[in-house]
Amino acid sequence: MSKTCLKSIFVAFFLIAGSSAFAASPAPVKGEHGMVVTAQNLASDIGVEVLQQGGNAVDAAVAVGYALAVTYPSAGNIGGGGFMTIRFKDGATTFLDFRERAPLAATKTMYLDKDGNPIKGASLDGYLAVGVPGSVAGLDMAREKYGTLARAQLLAPAIRLAREGFVLGQGDASILAGNAKRLALDKAAAAIFLKADGAAYGMGEKLVQPDLAASLTAISEKGPDAFYKGAIADAIVKASQEKGGILAKADFEQYKVREIKPVTCSYRGYDIVSSPPPSSGGLIICEILNILEFYPIAHLGFGSADTVHFMVEAMRHAYVDRNSALGDPAFVENPVATLTDKAYAAEIRGRIDKYRAGVSKDLKPKDFAESKETTHYSIIDDAGNAVAVTYTLNGSFGAGVVAPGTGILLNNEMDDFTQKPGVPNLYGLVQGEANAIAPLKTPLSSMSPTIISKDGKPFMVIGSPGGSRIITITLEAIINVIDHGMDIQEAIDAPRIHHQWLPDTVYVENNGLSPDTLKLLAGMGYKLDVAAAGKVWGQAAGILVGGKSLGEIEKGGGARYNGAIDSRAAAGKAAGY
Ligand code: DON
Repeated sequence: MSKTCLKSIFVAFFLIAGSSAFAASPAPVKGEHGMVVTAQNLASDIGVEVLQQGGNAVDAAVAVGYALAVTYPSAGNIGGGGFMTIRFKDGATTFLDFRERAPLAATKTMYLDKDGNPIKGASLDGYLAVGVPGSVAGLDMAREKYGTLARAQLLAPAIRLAREGFVLGQGDASILAGNAKRLALDKAAAAIFLKADGAAYGMGEKLVQPDLAASLTAISEKGPDAFYKGAIADAIVKASQEKGGILAKADFEQYKVREIKPVTCSYRGYDIVSSPPPSSGGLIICEILNILEFYPIAHLGFGSADTVHFMVEAMRHAYVDRNSALGDPAFVENPVATLTDKAYAAEIRGRIDKYRAGVSKDLKPKDFAESKETTHYSIIDDAGNAVAVTYTLNGSFGAGVVAPGTGILLNNEMDDFTQKPGVPNLYGLVQGEANAIAPLKTPLSSMSPTIISKDGKPFMVIGSPGGSRIITITLEAIINVIDHGMDIQEAIDAPRIHHQWLPDTVYVENNGLSPDTLKLLAGMGYKLDVAAAGKVWGQAAGILVGGKSLGEIEKGGGARYNGAIDSRAAAGKAAGY
């Protein structure tokens, strides 16, 4: 039997079998006036309260950003940075880059020993790993330009939770317990998160953070200057100088948020708005979607060997571009037009063998001639303003250090730079010169806060943590909704696959593909790595507008807003009203 004939039998089978929707998830949360989906339940409730008080989605995003710094200390932060994608009710869009910048004293080889080899842990642990934080400047700029409520009103819930404390739920406590050993290494961090016996505060116990309350109060009263020009910067710089870091007061004084045009592209008639450089996220999602658009993904079916094959090949080609060509736009020229060009995607499709795995080492970085822990939250308000925020300390609890007196955990974002071409970072990314370290430069990110619209109306708000996998997690949620007809909760919960060019391996979530599919893929030449049971793989947060799934939207009978926090998330909540 010919391959084409076999394929049409497969297609016919999936047209029948594929019509029953993937169903293994709780129902999405419904709301008629607003929806806030975050990785921590108290923060989600605060977002809804702000909307109910008359704030817009940006106000809610600012209040949630500060609240997560208190209730979700592994990633929520004011000592890190992030991105905010906004789509206003009139369809206009913008993007705020408040990611960390390298300190003025940073050098290209700062994490290498005298023989040119990476020093273990130097870009991950302690003050040398810290980039200049941007969250306070970013949240304040968002509020000032696009919010409607006073700074003090938006900071008040976070201050209250830090000062009075909050009772840890099961998820909150398990995150702390998993990081107790590392937090014990820093006296100031240990004093906040660990009890006298060295154990982390447990479920049902209260976490009180008076120093953080004081820092937040200073920001509430004096604005970002309290952080960048006042006592907070002084305390961080002092601790950095005493403990082997290179942060200087000038780094804080010079910090500026960048407002950038987001990346845009279309996929099967949907309009996508996502993160531009210094993130790779939006560009690489667009590149992969452009490649996939001409494959019949819906008919090939979720999790089939053919679908996985085409997805992996698209990922392979896009990640070689990510890892070699992209970097901070103030330092390198990013091939934005090429990577979002449908003709470029067609050229790549022409190089994908329909039946065989590609080989990563045969894909060389091109010369473009053209001039564990992050958190994502999604918000939409009654007027239809949508906000997607991904912000981070990079690794869980960042560099694991708190400048004494501030209560603020600091990031280890410097690890996102290329320490040495060819040497993998925390997420196994093998990157090049475009992302080399330089003073004031921002490391390349994968964070992908994304908003999708259809016919000029908001359709989906989506994003995720997950290091280099953020891009494929976000992409797969989009494909699961648009191609596979899943509802927003199913789309987020569905098992995932990932490929990032190097290592040349297809990563599969535990029980993500059937043994038969794995066998077919191995036969095509793929090296597969199935995750061990219980290995958590990103915690996406999404909203679908007009119904819980495309089917419901088309019938016109769904709730206006449908929220879903990843079932993998320990402490998250979708809250609607
Ligand atoms: O910006 C980035 O791409 C990384 N710093 C994100 C880190 C992350 O997602 C960790 N969480 N799982």
